[in-house]
Amino acid sequence: MGTPTYIYSARAVRDSYRAIDDAFAAYPHAIHYALKANSTLAIARLLRSLGSRADANSGGEIRVAQRAGFEARDIVFTGVGKTRDELEYAIAEGVGTINAESAGELDRIAAIARAQGTVARVAVRVNPDIDPKSHPHVSTGLKTNKFGVPLQEARGIYRARRETTGLQFVGVHIHIGSQITTLEPLRRAAAALTSLALELRDDGFVLEHVDLGGGLGIAYEGRPMINPVDYAGAVIPELRRIGAPVVLEPGRAVVGYSGALVARVVDTKCFPDGRTFAVLDAGMGELIRPALYGSFHRIVPVARRAGADSAWDVVGPICESSDVFARDRMLPPLQVDDLVAILDAGAYGSVMGSNYNRHLLPAEVLVDEGKWAVIRRRQTLEDVLALES
Ligand SMILES: Cc1ncc(COP(=O)(O)O)c(C=O)c1O
Repeated sequence: MGTPTYIYSARAVRDSYRAIDDAFAAYPHAIHYALKANSTLAIARLLRSLGSRADANSGGEIRVAQRAGFEARDIVFTGVGKTRDELEYAIAEGVGTINAESAGELDRIAAIARAQGTVARVAVRVNPDIDPKSHPHVSTGLKTNKFGVPLQEARGIYRARRETTGLQFVGVHIHIGSQITTLEPLRRAAAALTSLALELRDDGFVLEHVDLGGGLGIAYEGRPMINPVDYAGAVIPELRRIGAPVVLEPGRAVVGYSGALVARVVDTKCFPDGRTFAVLDAGMGELIRPALYGSFHRIVPVARRAGADSAWDVVGPICESSDVFARDRMLPPLQVDDLVAILDAGAYGSVMGSNYNRHLLPAEVLVDEGKWAVIRRRQTLEDVLALES
């Protein structure tokens, strides 16, 4: 397929999905895979075939979910800054739940639903001011973040709109961040969600579910980490206080491990101070996480050359000094034309791709039971220029 190419393992997706599903077996739950992590159609279809429902973050993701075969009623629609067009589409299609981000958005939803002569099923996303102890750029439940409504205002927002025509309150929603690697923030989020749901039940709201969002991290460094069983063990005791089914929106934990970005070494060079660079044909245009969050990805040569490991700066071809995958990474000898695999790139990889420097989006391949198929062909310059006059 040439390089750079994303290669995904269907088995890894299945294993990760089932690990979460099994961990929550003792509690009524629905997994709504967060499409934002990877919405390539074949990946979305694979998740659907496993029984997953969907979490969409935009009108585009709703349409992709539908294209992949998800029913509108099996989609939760979350996302800060939903446009009128997106809301009109979601309401007309009858998405399962719209997780509203503000009182104003609830009122806009109500007005659109009334205009369409229908009732929108809604929840309010609450911001509990809980530190997920993750990277600041993937924290979403702090009071300095833009997401949701302050927890202390949520009950009032529900109460004030209890009789609003066009709205049916079916749940409450929380999502405090991503790549969460400790249990306490997740437990606290579940506790805050449950406490609010109990208050709303006292107020007479009939909630069909509580939505705990996503956030479970993965072991990018290859070291032991909290797993779905630990996660379920931390949050289920809190959820039992309300007993309502829980909606889970995992993204990274479902697809993160499944993907490798395979790239070719196009140049090597050594500076007088001894710093040695391996320049790849993949960079921040294919996988921006290291440049965006300083994220760690394991990097392995596809075929290991004999010789001692030494420190390499593994960088991309993009004209930005932040286009770096790793600094001082101990790796075996590398030569021009060698292939390297950047591991655990299945989530927030291809979905964040860009054409910066007029690089073309990579091909994507899905491996399943010893067979492989191209699930997205490599972009061509003609694809890109087709948009331009
Ligand atoms: C509302 C919501 N749900 C689910 C997710 C998925 O999170 P993760 O991939 O960390 O599981 C996100 C991502 O940040 C999100 O914003």
